[in-house]
Amino acid sequence: MPSYSLNDICCPPSYNGESRRARWFFLGLFVFIGFMIIFILIGLAAGLWKHAPEQDHYLILSRQWPITVCIARQCDEKYRDQQEWLINGLQSRIAGEKPLKNCEHEENDFKPESVKDEKDYFATRWPNLDPLPHTLTIKEPTEKPTTTATSTVKTTTVSISSSTTKKPDDKPDDDKHNEKQWSKEWKQYGTCYDGKQADYFQTIMELDKTYLLKEAKISEKIIPNTTALIELNTLAKTLAEYFNKKNEQKWDESMFEFVCKLVINTNKNDDDDDAEQGQHLYLLEEIRMCFGVMTTDDGDKKKQVHKPIECFDRSSYGIESPYGCFGQQSVRYPNAF
Ligand SMILES: *[C@@H]1O[C@H](CO)[C@@H](O)[C@H](O)[C@H]1NC(C)=O
Repeated sequence: MPSYSLNDICCPPSYNGESRRARWFFLGLFVFIGFMIIFILIGLAAGLWKHAPEQDHYLILSRQWPITVCIARQCDEKYRDQQEWLINGLQSRIAGEKPLKNCEHEENDFKPESVKDEKDYFATRWPNLDPLPHTLTIKEPTEKPTTTATSTVKTTTVSISSSTTKKPDDKPDDDKHNEKQWSKEWKQYGTCYDGKQADYFQTIMELDKTYLLKEAKISEKIIPNTTALIELNTLAKTLAEYFNKKNEQKWDESMFEFVCKLVINTNKNDDDDDAEQGQHLYLLEEIRMCFGVMTTDDGDKKKQVHKPIECFDRSSYGIESPYGCFGQQSVRYPNAF
């Protein structure tokens, strides 16, 4: 019967002193690394959970050029040749994520009272470009056939009185028409905004006022002209200069993005045009500006501060995407179409 020493039992002969120490060393190392990983994960989770939603939220204010918007689309006639930049809307996004759309919000439905302070401002800066529905009802009185002379008199007086009483009614009609536009924007993008509905519309008005872009002539070089091409790089630089003159903030060309509309020129009887028939025309449709959102705690009132930032998603635009103007370097800024 072979005898074993205690040393042989707990540490078989195959384990010499060196491998035993190595075993303990690795075991200790694993435990240490394990704790490190757990602590790092806890730290990351706490850090991300606390800061990410605030830091990465950003806004995109979009202004539209009605002349381009109204190509191949039903528009109220007065916007077809309006040379003025108008508000298009405000998107709320999270950096590195897909554009947010149709989110769940505690105020999912549009409430007209949330634009009560902005309504008049928006009526000129953010109108509904769609044709007014009531333009169709104007025909009604003239279509009424009349049998006798007395009834003719009667119907004309009726139509006059109805047109005079309609004047005060016209305003709410316009409001209703515009509200459709604002409601659409709220449902699509506003519901993704981190705040109340009234604050969303207030933010749009404030950003539009602070960084007003209205004039067609952005600089001596950047003026609407359908037959000329403008470089998007130059446009971005010009816009940065344009806003730096008006505002304290430092704008640079990475803080703008553009959306274009692609149309194919079918204009065949244009003699002085330099062989543009059948050509693809990239027309500037939107100018977008990006803002970082910072929430400051002023006592018990949370206040949002908007700071111009680089547009995060620029690089993700594909060649065939209208965002970033289909990857074009130069586009047209049309004066008429
Ligand atoms: C528009 O651009 C064309 C081509 O560059 C130029 O000949 C024309 O003078 C421009 N029109 C205006 C009003 O600047």
